[in-house]
Amino acid sequence: MEIEQVFETMDYGPAPESAAEALAWLVDGGDRFGHFIGGTFTEPADGFESCNPASGEVLATLSQATQDDVDAAVDAARKAQAPWARKSGHQRARYLYAIARLIQKHSRLFAVLETLDNGKPIRESRDIDIPLVHRHFYYHAGLAQLMNDELPGMAPHGVCGQIIPWNFPLLMLAWKVAPALAAGNTVVLKPAEYTSLTALLFADICQQAGLPKGVVNIVTGDGAVGEMIVNHSGIDKIAFTGSTSVGRRIREATAGSGKALTLELGGKSPYIVFDDADIDSAIEGLVDAIWFNQGQVCCAGSRLLVQEGIAEDFYTRLKARMDNLRIGDPLDKCIDVGAVVDPVQLKTITDMVDANTEGQTYVAKCPLPERGSFYPPTLITGLSPAATLMQDEIFGPVLVGTTFRTPGEAVALANNTRYGLAATVWTENVNLALDIAPKLVAGVVWVNATNLFDAAAGFGGVRESGFGREGGWEGIQAFLKPAAKPKALKPIAPHARPDEPEVADPLDRTAKNYVGGKQARPDSGYATPVYTARGRLLGHVGTGNRKDIRNAVEAAHKAAGWAKTTGHLRAQILYYIAENLSARAGEFATRLKDLTGKDGKAEVEASIDRLFTYAAWADKFDGAAHGVPIRGVALAMNEPVGVIGALCADEAPLLGLVSAMAPAIAMGNTCVLIPSEPYPLAATDFYQVLETSDVPGGVVNIVTGAHADLAPTLAGHMDVDAVWSFSSTNLSAEIEKASTSNLKRTWVNNGHARDWAGGHDAKTFLRAATEVKNIWIPYGE
Ligand code: NAI
Repeated sequence: MEIEQVFETMDYGPAPESAAEALAWLVDGGDRFGHFIGGTFTEPADGFESCNPASGEVLATLSQATQDDVDAAVDAARKAQAPWARKSGHQRARYLYAIARLIQKHSRLFAVLETLDNGKPIRESRDIDIPLVHRHFYYHAGLAQLMNDELPGMAPHGVCGQIIPWNFPLLMLAWKVAPALAAGNTVVLKPAEYTSLTALLFADICQQAGLPKGVVNIVTGDGAVGEMIVNHSGIDKIAFTGSTSVGRRIREATAGSGKALTLELGGKSPYIVFDDADIDSAIEGLVDAIWFNQGQVCCAGSRLLVQEGIAEDFYTRLKARMDNLRIGDPLDKCIDVGAVVDPVQLKTITDMVDANTEGQTYVAKCPLPERGSFYPPTLITGLSPAATLMQDEIFGPVLVGTTFRTPGEAVALANNTRYGLAATVWTENVNLALDIAPKLVAGVVWVNATNLFDAAAGFGGVRESGFGREGGWEGIQAFLKPAAKPKALKPIAPHARPDEPEVADPLDRTAKNYVGGKQARPDSGYATPVYTARGRLLGHVGTGNRKDIRNAVEAAHKAAGWAKTTGHLRAQILYYIAENLSARAGEFATRLKDLTGKDGKAEVEASIDRLFTYAAWADKFDGAAHGVPIRGVALAMNEPVGVIGALCADEAPLLGLVSAMAPAIAMGNTCVLIPSEPYPLAATDFYQVLETSDVPGGVVNIVTGAHADLAPTLAGHMDVDAVWSFSSTNLSAEIEKASTSNLKRTWVNNGHARDWAGGHDAKTFLRAATEVKNIWIPYGE
């Protein structure tokens, strides 16, 4: 027999991995587990079973945490936090390093336990999940070591509540715990109810590493326990990964609480194949994109977009590949597709696919095991862009596909989603790939590869895929805040109308709004008088309403071309604004003195200085080329966020406006600014400076009015991508609540004062004005 014939006729026998050690570990634990609080395991209590989805067998019984348990865990974390933060970065690095070493040492046990509990193929847990876990701890040992020098003036948040999903149980734990600990926080973590076992084994590792008691606390239970953590007053920051619907609920629950929040949510990531792609590679990529982890991956390439000319050939080859996928016992090393995490998730997938009546459905001909929670690899083509299955996350091994004709159409289809987590592009044409990658609305883009992850490269999304990044220097920022203690912000009321109002000025001095580069009469038809402290009438400003905000947002959108301008051009325009403000410095100084009673000259000078600062940064706030362990790079590109709405500082009417506007436009955003409510006239005078400074219409829009009235419309607007509030009226709760509409990024002051004239931290503003997109580009041999 020829060797070729041997290969063709040969059938693989199973190559099962032994579960003995993992099962022994469970037995040693008595098959019943309590929580890990203050460095010890609590007595097992009433709870729920954790099952092997491939067999249905019960692996262990876990405890459902009560409010008392959560209180105890938060308490332990609180007690441990200050001593942990006081340790040097080097001391924390040594603990993280010890944890990394121990996970590496026990990696096979972790891999088998993960596979038993989650159903993912052992090949994946052994070769992907667990190696990425210890890599994450090693990397963050390094960040802890370097932090004090590289990130001066920053402090940990305190106690972090961390809630993770079941698709990468230990890896998601690592993504949450490693940066939190590196930064000096302590944690209370809740694993997902289907998959808590490796988190409990991790608790063992913490003990073995001699981690101080209370630094890591783990409570098990369902969503109700998650809610207890979210609502706990002793928690300073929430980091969540899971569904968009729960993420939205958490945003709402934490609104106005002052808790920091990062959300890593769902996705419906496009997988774009151009007609010049290496088709076989693109098909192998698809296996990793959608059948990796049974498609239960937030960044799964679940929406195939294939160029029309190759579609038929592509689908034919894809179906042949699907038929060859091996689905079965996840502990078998030859298995490609394992079990879906739980019968509940299996039912969700089944129901979603069964409800679809459109297109053509192809189910892989690979045989399914007789028992267990298995779903066959499935391809559904010919769906319309609006079809439920094209828009909603299935979170299973189901690929939906459609075709496109031109690169422009591919981008339009790719971005036709409420999500923005990841995207994949296949083409042999480097120019095309690098043209398309920046146009995709996503936090991560893979070129001629897919589902690549590394601790050095930030991961996270835009739009309803959440906000914040995990991994890299950008990831650790989410676990830090400025070290300086904030002062309370005092609300500033407008100067009162004098007892005997002045006779109206015969010249109409009612300032309008500034929308789309033009002065626009406010929709309400009402105006608000503005007085000096002594009661002299200075003029009137329009009383903006929701319609004015909507017009301003529309104008800001129309000016989106600003994002494509060069940093150099944006710098020139910022310098020009500074120059024109300087030419009228005296006039502005008088105006500011009239409004605030304070030294106007100093504020004008500081504003000019600030414009220079952001002009300088416009072409220097660079991204990075991360040294990820592939033959290639991950390019971290700083992109504009989009339309930024800002409620400007009341106390510094010109400097506050400039400090919000300049970083936003320097980075290519357009903005809608609501100026100081009590002292708005400095902003309305500023229109003329903008008009003479070549700022394209719509890049800066200004609507005057009451902050409390305008903030909810701005924060709730679906076409606004971020909202900042520096208002002296504390609107943090209203803004964060309204932001759930499209899960926009928010940056609110929680009633804390900012020293506008003093040490201005430009990088904080620049980071708020950018999204980091990581573009992975393999190259070389
Ligand atoms: P989920 O979002 O409900 O669960 C994730 C975590 O949040 C779990 O630990 C859960 O106990 C906890 N949780 C649930 N409700 C909570 C609440 N009100 N407050 C605080 N924590 C809460 O996800 P689920 O139900 O397991 O899966 C449903 C769908 O979510 C999936 O079909 C999939 O579409 C999506 N999903 C997305 C993930 C991602 O990585 N983006 C991960 C898991 C699920």
